[in-house]
Amino acid sequence: MKKLLTTLLCACSLTAAAQTPVYLDDSQPIEARVKDALSRMTLEEKVAMCHAQSKFSSPGCPRLGIPELWMSDGPHGVRAEINWNDWGYAQWTNDSITAFPALTCLAATWNPEMAARYGKAIGEEARYREKDVLLGPGVNIYRTPLNGRNFEYMGEDPYLAAEMCVPYIQEVQKNGVAACIKHYALNNQEEWRGHIDVNLSDRALYEIYLPAFKAGIERGGSWTIMGAYNKLRGTHCCHNDLLLNKILKQDWKFDGCVITDWGGAHDTREAALGGLDIEMGSYTNGLTSESAFTYDDYYLARPYLKMLQSGEVPLSTIDDKASRILRLIFRTAMNRQKPYGAICTGEHYAAAREIGSEGIVLLKNAPVAKKENPLLPLVADNYRRILVVGDNAVRLLNEGGGSSELKVKDMVSPLDGLRALYGDRVEFAQGYKAGRPMYGRADEVPVAEEDALRAEAVEKARQADLVILVGGLNKNHFQDCEGGDRQYFHLPFGQDKLIEELLAVNKKLVLVLLSGNAVEMPWVDRVPAIVQGWYLGSMGGRSLADVLSGQVNPSGKLPFSFPRRLTDCGAHAFDALSYPGDSIREEYKEDILVGYRWHDTKKIPALFPFGHGLSYTTFSYGKPVASAKEMTPDGTLTIRLTVKNSGTCAGKEVVQLYVGDERCSVLRPVKELKRFTKVALAPGEEREVTFTLTADDLKFYDEASGSWKAEPGKFTAYIAASSADVRGRVQFELF
Ligand code: BGC
Repeated sequence: MKKLLTTLLCACSLTAAAQTPVYLDDSQPIEARVKDALSRMTLEEKVAMCHAQSKFSSPGCPRLGIPELWMSDGPHGVRAEINWNDWGYAQWTNDSITAFPALTCLAATWNPEMAARYGKAIGEEARYREKDVLLGPGVNIYRTPLNGRNFEYMGEDPYLAAEMCVPYIQEVQKNGVAACIKHYALNNQEEWRGHIDVNLSDRALYEIYLPAFKAGIERGGSWTIMGAYNKLRGTHCCHNDLLLNKILKQDWKFDGCVITDWGGAHDTREAALGGLDIEMGSYTNGLTSESAFTYDDYYLARPYLKMLQSGEVPLSTIDDKASRILRLIFRTAMNRQKPYGAICTGEHYAAAREIGSEGIVLLKNAPVAKKENPLLPLVADNYRRILVVGDNAVRLLNEGGGSSELKVKDMVSPLDGLRALYGDRVEFAQGYKAGRPMYGRADEVPVAEEDALRAEAVEKARQADLVILVGGLNKNHFQDCEGGDRQYFHLPFGQDKLIEELLAVNKKLVLVLLSGNAVEMPWVDRVPAIVQGWYLGSMGGRSLADVLSGQVNPSGKLPFSFPRRLTDCGAHAFDALSYPGDSIREEYKEDILVGYRWHDTKKIPALFPFGHGLSYTTFSYGKPVASAKEMTPDGTLTIRLTVKNSGTCAGKEVVQLYVGDERCSVLRPVKELKRFTKVALAPGEEREVTFTLTADDLKFYDEASGSWKAEPGKFTAYIAASSADVRGRVQFELF
């Protein structure tokens, strides 16, 4: 009897199991589920998944209970809800979130643990907001300080950007939310971004512009990637066979989805064959405008279906795209193991604050008079009247900037942060004015008004014991903003004049620059303290007050060079075809010599070099020692040194290792960043730092063979505190 019962029970559970389709059974391997779902779908259903159904979603397959995919910007926080069919905000009341520091600031921490914290926190917020794809991180290389979107990216060095984007992506995706690394590739300017045809050497492509994307895909495991608006060698990046089929899907073995930038698709056949999977935002400018086409008119909608039905493009293309989309849905929307997420928690605010204070870079810190201490950190007791000047001290810098604009629940401005520390001693004068964040030109302020604001600030500065000017750029069009590049290198809104006039009445001037870009600094020798404060997000005022007061010892290092003049930057050392192009074509004439590679190799010192950042303490470096004099092609070489905190307060130092090839058949930069580590040291404490190199770190991209090569011979490893502050060298030979 018992046996009969058992047999019956088994049979029942078998029937129940047999009734659950494989694609719905999450105990089955994902690939089996993809295959099963695909086998049940009609051609029309597969095609429907390949394009948008609203501004930020694509349909799943409702008949099979396969849900939609919901996407959201952006790299620094989860964007407010957008209307179904246009770029207006939906005016929800439950979509306010944490603004995290912009990615330039994250990169400036040079701390992959901070990138992991960032990814975890922003991933939890995206999950809470029920998003399946978070449109970030951005890893386009900083080629020119005029690029309006540099603030969204991770600087000029491919190795730094790669190391920082990997933990971000991994931690976001632990929430069942796909990261979408963007904009693949060469979207290094906003001017003519929709069509400019970028031409560059294979070496520049592989050595400079692709490595961060490769790391994000291969090591970070990003489930999606966003195609760029521009063209590469004549073809739009969103359906570029070389970038998508050959490099991404074949060489890097990417099994996720390529999503267009919004409005980045331009042709059905190219989209069908060129490696695109999901088409978003067609017939829009990606920001503000749209035309009356319906989603069925998209390139990968009805026109694609017709081509498939007529045999003009093979059915294998749609099966590949639909499989990738299903895989993405199983990883995200249909992932039943994902956590619930959270927004605006104490933990998220703490992460935003600490990333901010760790990314702030102390560019300069001098005494005002001989025998005095440097101006920073502020010794509060010395100052009865602290004057804070500047539009950026009170401006909502989460607003504007384009698609990374954020709607925050809380925002601590620099003025709030300083008042919280110094109370009534803090006075404020706006000093200059910049208008509301908007896409129209907003930097023209009537001269009389500008003069009056400046005069008021100067008058107050005369009476003050200390002046803190919080200026820089902002998120208006033609500043740090998507859709346009900066039109000049100097500070906008009359700030140069304001700085000169403030200095004339009060030498105790701390200048805080909030920007995602380098600016020209004609007054640099006369301003005693200069701080690069990026865009710091919800807790920005706290991060800034932490650093200015010395509660946090600054340890940020520049992720890009600050050239003295615009023409000192490689991209600007040639004619207009090099930047911004002739409106059709552009040639990257500086080739592989981007950022410090240019400054070093051409012997043009930067005003503030890549990797630079001061501390309130000092560090002394011991002599680096290599484990051997030679390296074999499959061997390793270890370099050791000690670093000591030789000052009087605790601090963190970023120890940087660059490698230079002494002789090579092709041009190589003087040196390139290959390793770095951040060490926390108490006063007097000493630690050993170890770096291990392999022959891969010595290679260049050989255009003739299309592969990476290292030529035997002498190499130098440079141990440095910035790209221009070398503290030790070791030579070794590659056999
Ligand atoms: C931007 C993308 C963004 C998309 C969606 C485009 O204009 O280039 O970075 O993710 O819009 O808002």
